[in-house]
Amino acid sequence: MASLTIRKLDEAIKAELRLRAAGNGRSVEEEVRIILGELIQGRPEAAPSSPRLPPSAAAPTRNSPDPVSGIPSVTLIIGGGIAAYKALDLIRRLKERHMHVRCVLTSAAQQFVTPLAAGALSHERCYTNLFDPGSEFDAGHIRLARDCDLIVVAPATADLMAKMAQGHADDLASAILLAADKPILLAPAMNPLMWNNPATRRNVAQLVRDGIATIGPNAGEMAEAGEAGVGRMAEPTEIAIAAERILRPPQVQPLKGKHVLITAGPTHEPIDPVRYIANRSSGKQGFAIAAAAHAAGAEVTLVSGPVDLDDPAGVMVKHVESAREMLAQVEAALPADIAIFAAAVADWRVKNAGSQKLKKSAGGLPQLEMIENPDILATISRLPFRRPPLVIGFAAETEHLIDNAKIKLTRKRCDWIVANDVSPATGVMGGDRNTVHLLTREADGTVAIDSWPVMTKDEVAATLVGRIASHVKDASA
Ligand code: C5P
Repeated sequence: MASLTIRKLDEAIKAELRLRAAGNGRSVEEEVRIILGELIQGRPEAAPSSPRLPPSAAAPTRNSPDPVSGIPSVTLIIGGGIAAYKALDLIRRLKERHMHVRCVLTSAAQQFVTPLAAGALSHERCYTNLFDPGSEFDAGHIRLARDCDLIVVAPATADLMAKMAQGHADDLASAILLAADKPILLAPAMNPLMWNNPATRRNVAQLVRDGIATIGPNAGEMAEAGEAGVGRMAEPTEIAIAAERILRPPQVQPLKGKHVLITAGPTHEPIDPVRYIANRSSGKQGFAIAAAAHAAGAEVTLVSGPVDLDDPAGVMVKHVESAREMLAQVEAALPADIAIFAAAVADWRVKNAGSQKLKKSAGGLPQLEMIENPDILATISRLPFRRPPLVIGFAAETEHLIDNAKIKLTRKRCDWIVANDVSPATGVMGGDRNTVHLLTREADGTVAIDSWPVMTKDEVAATLVGRIASHVKDASA
């Protein structure tokens, strides 16, 4: 059995140990024995000086690729350079491509951006410290290195690359990079003189020999006044595309050559020029499906009612207001191989909508005459010729979810229904999570029900697109 000499441990670890031991009223040796014992039994004890973090804030657990949705996970290491501000935009560009992002900031990076900003944009805890007892009690740097599908370093500074080329591991970022068994993508950024320095050239050549991918740097103006040359970090979108190419190689595009038509969001039915009737809908689920279908290689047309969301990258978006406009755009977008109706279309509109703003008057309340809107899903499902081979509806219900969804499947004559519970207590409306059941009409006329666990709307989208891909494959076999 090897003996452990505390004297020979790293100074920072010794300092941490002394702090814990003092807080617990033990000797350092006794503290080490307890930590090791707890570790072996899987019950690590937190340091008194640093409260144990809640499970969500502690070191990450393996969540990628997500076993159900297959959403990839990226560890984004932000190095210390002026381009670090662009790394914040990169988080968004990666997330809009449906990747989980977990950020690690070097101490130099924190001179340019804050862990708070990176954490807020990634919706994950941000990691900064190799000696953080909250995440290191179970070797968090090893898990950060491995519980992901890709490590992106942006900006990759000259110093960080030099450390990588030499195999240093004296801070969290370099320790993760040394422990990594996943692909690494570097986005170098530095002054052109630093980039062209023989030392940097040697280091980059070594890293490329080691199998590490790079994107950029680009030529252009530097932060330093009047300087230009090669050294600008690649743009966030370029880096995100390069990451996507590594994570989703082009051949893994099961919906390539397929046209997917999607409706999303609410419709607004005017009462007069300033008032309207609408259903509550953020459009998030439909937009997430559009992005997932695009990622799966499909040509995507998204017909969206008024929402507060950015158009998904690479998707043809038709913006509409009313149900009748939505139907017209859907019909114009045919033919389609798959049609997914995720919009919360208003069932009625006002027949006698005013051309001027209705005024309050002593004469009493305005008399609104309602008329039924076209049912877009039912209309497309019943088309005699141009009906898409796979038509999917949504059933957002507040009670009797499965029964109501089955009735809708039959009444609207679609092939699948995604049923979700939108009773107020679920927080689904406007939120980021969804609990769904997929009802599919089988060849023998029966209805199969597949209940998925609670997922984010991105995960629901990825899972649905995965199901569509297998259906398309089976249908063409
Ligand atoms: O009847 P209900 O609105 O609950 O039906 C939900 C499904 O029908 C959704 O897929 C929705 O997009 C679609 N729908 C439609 N046109 C309507 C009403 C609903 O496409 N006018």
